[in-house]
Amino acid sequence: MFGKYVLTLGLTVTAAAAFGGWFGSAASAAPAPRVAHPAVFNRTSASEAPQLGAAVNDVMLAKAGPRYVRTLLAHYRSITPEWEMEMSQLEPTRGHFTFGQADGIVAFARRHNMPVRGHTLVWDQMIPSWVLHGDWTRAQLENVLHTYITTVVSHYRGKVEEWDVVNEPLTTDGHMRQSIWERVIGPDYVALAFRWAHAADPNARLFLNEYGAEWNDPKEHALFQLVSGLESAGVPLGGVGFQAHLLLNAHPPQAELTGVLRQFAALGLRLEITELDVRAGGSAPLARRMAEEAAIYKTVAASCAAVRACARVTTWGISDAATWIGTANRPLPFDTHYQPKPAWYALRAGLTPRG
Ligand code: G3I
Repeated sequence: MFGKYVLTLGLTVTAAAAFGGWFGSAASAAPAPRVAHPAVFNRTSASEAPQLGAAVNDVMLAKAGPRYVRTLLAHYRSITPEWEMEMSQLEPTRGHFTFGQADGIVAFARRHNMPVRGHTLVWDQMIPSWVLHGDWTRAQLENVLHTYITTVVSHYRGKVEEWDVVNEPLTTDGHMRQSIWERVIGPDYVALAFRWAHAADPNARLFLNEYGAEWNDPKEHALFQLVSGLESAGVPLGGVGFQAHLLLNAHPPQAELTGVLRQFAALGLRLEITELDVRAGGSAPLARRMAEEAAIYKTVAASCAAVRACARVTTWGISDAATWIGTANRPLPFDTHYQPKPAWYALRAGLTPRG
């Protein structure tokens, strides 16, 4: 039986209950009582801190052990499945949906009253081969995508609070990425995807999620034009996600990122930092790299805290022990032993609104 521990939120959860929630009766502890689905989190004032979320994958939940779960429950308030909700994972063959892995993460989140960000419905990666290698007419591929979005969003209706509906539609120079969706359906695929997702769950908040738009540059300008156009067309877009996959030598100044967020906030949208991590590998002294990384975490968090419409910062994982870019890059707030790094303290400090 694992000892109790007090969450920073003043809640107490037994680790066994956490495992009970994940492994069911196998952990011999009664699973935590199912709690009502949390209300959508909104910052009621600029003095309220943005919420902190984390990307989680089923491998880590199942194998990383109690320190992973303890760190997640103690410090994070929302969950994004890292890859279990990608199309290749959910509909590997046409008409055959495999929700098991993603359902496990959603069930874990709901047992701990943690809202879930669904990620992602339409992307140019993780597309199953039966779609990629099909010889589709526009109408046929629209039907494929419509059926997929309707089935997935309906399955998670009332359990997934937000969706990254369209992920990374733009190239670095601000043109539409030539995904199969763009090539066969055309740019309308973006608006269609949002309308289909909204029809399947009118209460979910729908996001367009992009990377590399954290600077005032052509890609960000193109994103603003795309989003403004969707808004003007009455497309049910509820938010924009800025992924913020950053590097020690590639990160926006705080004033620039804050300015970008303010520009999108003026459209009346909810904003989130959706995939924050900072590549901090290299040969420079470790202490210097960790200090530089911490400064970047603080910049991003403070930029979000300064703009009331920016309601959440999600880090793309918790610990350097499990990151898509490799442990050597030390990109996350906790080290491989789940000890807080300078980045963790900087992230927390940056999330605290000033004034
Ligand atoms: O599919 C297998 C699964 O069956 C197996 O049990 C598991 C064991 O580790 O591996 C799975 O494979 C890989 C998975 O990551 C887990 O490592 C997938 O093949 C691989 O494609 C997947 O990569 C993910 C990638 O998106 C593509 O989905 C990364 O983890 C994930 O961090 C990355 O995240 C993306 C965001 O979705 C969009 N923004 C950029 C970000 C980084 O690329």
